[in-house]
Amino acid sequence: MEKFTLVKPTIKEKSLALDYISEFKDEYANGSGGLDKYIKGGKTYEQWLEKLEESENRQVTEESVPSVTFFLMNESQTYIYGTINIRLALNKKLRKSNGNIGYSIRPTQRRKGYNKINLYLGLKVCDKYNLKEVMLDCDVVNEASKRTIIALGGKKEKQMYNDDFKCEVEVFWINVKESLKENSSKYEQYVI
Ligand SMILES: CC(C)(COP(=O)(O)OP(=O)(O)OC[C@H]1O[C@@H](n2cnc3c(N)ncnc32)[C@H](O)[C@@H]1OP(=O)(O)O)[C@@H](O)C(=O)NCCC(=O)NCCS
Repeated sequence: MEKFTLVKPTIKEKSLALDYISEFKDEYANGSGGLDKYIKGGKTYEQWLEKLEESENRQVTEESVPSVTFFLMNESQTYIYGTINIRLALNKKLRKSNGNIGYSIRPTQRRKGYNKINLYLGLKVCDKYNLKEVMLDCDVVNEASKRTIIALGGKKEKQMYNDDFKCEVEVFWINVKESLKENSSKYEQYVI
């Protein structure tokens, strides 16, 4: 398998990012920092980059928290496999739904193990930002997301009805350092 890395979006990845997002036809690109909404809504990639910078430098409020977004790319950085968005703090709203992390893998590259690598790399980022435990939630029927979370050591806290998404969700917590320690032998070989 290729080796992977998380890359902070810059103007260099513009055409790769537009190609990536074109695969999300009727689907929301979870964990892309709103790239799909920007592009489908007629805004530019450059405006999205500005928004990412603003997101990273936000204060924690009840409305929003700082967050960082990455592309999951191959070693030569010529292809985007997925995205991951990490909320660096939790406010009341995020504790109720969405938690710390959102992610997607592009539709043509799913079921090849890439999201487990995406989340492993995302947890390394969490560790750098000193996040001890992170919350992730997923629709009860989203087997792929649930299995990713469990593979990386997610412990289920509860199941509840999510008013925003109008569905039952399961809420998980991952101990960042424990997960990295337990999973390094499995995933370190696939990352740079
Ligand atoms: C969720 C998502 C990111 C998973 O990406 P992926 O690269 O296909 O996942 P992986 O190949 O790493 O597989 C992770 C686990 O899910 C399982 N899986 C993947 N797709 C599956 C499917 N369609 N049905 C059942 N299980 C599935 C894999 O077998 C693996 O489980 P295992 O470790 O027990 O073998 C991808 O399906 C996606 O982008 N979905 C849309 C966005 C989304 O739902 N984001 C999460 C919101 S909470």
